[in-house]
Amino acid sequence: MHILVSGGTGFIGSHTVVELLNNGCDVTVFDNLSNSKATVIDKIEKLTGKRPAFFKCDMNNKAGMNRVFSSAHFDAVIHFAGYKAVGESVEKPLMYYENNICGTLVLLDMMKKYGVENLIFSSSATVYGIPEKCPVTESSPLSTLNPYGRTKLMIEDILRDVASADKTFSTVLLRYFNPVGCHPSGLISEDPNGIPNNLMPRIIQAVRGQIPELTVFGDDYDTRDGTCIRDYIHVVDLAKGHVAALDYVTSHKGSVAINLGTGNGCTVLELLKSFERVNNLKVPYSIAGRREGDSPAVYADTSLAKELLGWTAGLGLDDMCRDAWKGACMNG
Ligand SMILES: NC(=O)c1ccc[n+]([C@@H]2O[C@H](COP(=O)([O-])OP(=O)(O)OC[C@H]3O[C@@H](n4cnc5c(N)ncnc54)[C@H](O)[C@@H]3O)[C@@H](O)[C@H]2O)c1
Repeated sequence: MHILVSGGTGFIGSHTVVELLNNGCDVTVFDNLSNSKATVIDKIEKLTGKRPAFFKCDMNNKAGMNRVFSSAHFDAVIHFAGYKAVGESVEKPLMYYENNICGTLVLLDMMKKYGVENLIFSSSATVYGIPEKCPVTESSPLSTLNPYGRTKLMIEDILRDVASADKTFSTVLLRYFNPVGCHPSGLISEDPNGIPNNLMPRIIQAVRGQIPELTVFGDDYDTRDGTCIRDYIHVVDLAKGHVAALDYVTSHKGSVAINLGTGNGCTVLELLKSFERVNNLKVPYSIAGRREGDSPAVYADTSLAKELLGWTAGLGLDDMCRDAWKGACMNG
């Protein structure tokens, strides 16, 4: 199978490309490099012994996209490309709608034009807003709190509409929980161009003294230790989930949303303590008040992924913390 990967030099995309190549797929990547570097392609080749075809291309650039799509016939597209910073999306909503939504429309247009029927989309647990109960199943109510989340919800709706109008189209909407860690070699990792906002990159910054300390928002939630619970998933497990979804998307029609998480809720302090223990490091931190829009607990019901994809996460918190630190050390 030949797979086209949008945003394939990014964090989750690059890990998925490695798994695809290791599973015998041919891979073409396109990325505008707004949040990643072209050297990732060299690293992927080093890890797998195979070099994916690469196009530096923005998905809103139709001429460039025509070049990508006419370079080979693709059996499926895995669509990672998009902006993902919640805070930035609040400040620059139009930039998010244009990039994520208009870009996806161009991608769908190209798929139709070039006869590509199968799409796996990077959705997010953010589409569950503040869940009423956990674990969150795929049929839990959908809502969201910011423009980034709205782009995910809107794209899910668009893809469901396309699948119901076009009976040849197949799409799997993968709702990721909280991806962390990196390839155990440390060679590819989360390497954002801007200021990271997620917990693991902030922990790493605090350890390195790049920020004075980690701020933990709220320790008075109704959880084991008062801090928020999330479902952290190792990015290599997540990448393997895409390979499993590829089998599904190419053998079914229609649309389905599937959670990709471990199903295990972990508090902020548990992640922090695990990071300290595994890496023998101290993380400077302080407790601040609750942050608006934070849910006390969000973790996945993963039974649908097991049933439809035959996939479950295998790696634990210690692997995530060890690999995240190794990746940070190796990539500056
Ligand atoms: N990392 C997370 O915590 C998380 C959680 C849930 C969902 N997601 C989604 O998964 C996807 C991948 O996330 P990631 O963490 O790997 O992010 P990332 O920023 O590392 O990767 C996204 C890639 O898309 C590229 N890109 C952005 N706009 C583009 C455009 N117009 N044309 C071509 N390339 C473009 C960027 O340069 C980047 O390499 C995103 O859609 C994100 O919203 C991420």
